Amino acid sequence: MHHSGKSNYALITGASSGIGLELARLFAADGIPLILVARRTDRLEALQAELSALVTVKLFACDLSDATARTHLLDALTEQQLKIDYLVNNAGRGQFGDIAENDWSDTDAMLQLNMVALSHLTRSLVPVMKQRGFGHILTVASTAAFQPGPGMAAYFASKAYVLSYSEALAYELKNSGISATCLCPGATQTEFFSQAVMEDSGLVKGKQLPTAAEVALQGYQAMQRGKAVSIHGLFNRLRIFSLRSAPRAIVTAITASILKRDQ
Ligand SMILES: NC(=O)c1ccc[n+]([C@@H]2O[C@H](COP(=O)([O-])OP(=O)(O)OC[C@H]3O[C@@H](n4cnc5c(N)ncnc54)[C@H](OP(=O)(O)O)[C@@H]3O)[C@@H](O)[C@H]2O)c1
Repeated sequence: MHHSGKSNYALITGASSGIGLELARLFAADGIPLILVARRTDRLEALQAELSALVTVKLFACDLSDATARTHLLDALTEQQLKIDYLVNNAGRGQFGDIAENDWSDTDAMLQLNMVALSHLTRSLVPVMKQRGFGHILTVASTAAFQPGPGMAAYFASKAYVLSYSEALAYELKNSGISATCLCPGATQTEFFSQAVMEDSGLVKGKQLPTAAEVALQGYQAMQRGKAVSIHGLFNRLRIFSLRSAPRAIVTAITASILKRDQ
């Protein structure tokens, strides 16, 4: 589906596990070479070993919540003259708990990762895509983007930023040959919930969740088609549609009751 001939790179953030890892497999299967970014190098090396029979795989260990580390990454891409046709802003994480009780430095690092890092990478890589008149940007938000989330307030708000940013980007890039797609998964089987220490939340406990591979495939196809927003799952789509006419206070209260620990 991508343009013919030798393809330029796909840069995927958060490729060491979950949805990002499955996206890497999809790009590799289509013969698109990879630049994989995350902190855990052992995981990245394992994925490189798996996929390098199919495509060139370059690894960059980077803590994306750190502005200096991001600048080093971007400088290395320029120095190595790596051409990027696909930018996948997937890295992100959650923080569970009420605002008054959360550790601020942890919230701060999450906001840097979920919002600032993807804005920084997008701002840096889009101008070159514009010069070439080709590119696809896939950004992973969440169904959390559509309502406030008491008990996970900063995470939900960060995803509202991601959705709004990606939709505006898609508009700005109209007729430029570059698409911007925002994938909004609902709760998905990844390391997200153990990382956020929320396996007991009513959102996941006892629930049958879709796999990261299913969610990644939907996002990948939506990106190749240039769709602006792709919400995973019929139930999620219906629920988000119903939010449009519901009073915000009621939506907030229902979300709070779903998120709280299942006693
Ligand atoms: N799972 C869900 O239910 C769900 C639902 C909606 C949206 N999402 C979104 O989907 C995206 C992918 O998450 P996932 O569910 O696949 O979770 P995951 O398995 O925990 O993967 C998160 C990825 O982000 C990377 N990452 C975390 N902190 C980082 C940092 N400081 N610097 C660089 N990379 C970092 C992780 O790599 P390292 O730890 O190696 O750095 C990992 O590769 C996130 O944006 C998440 O918000 C997930």
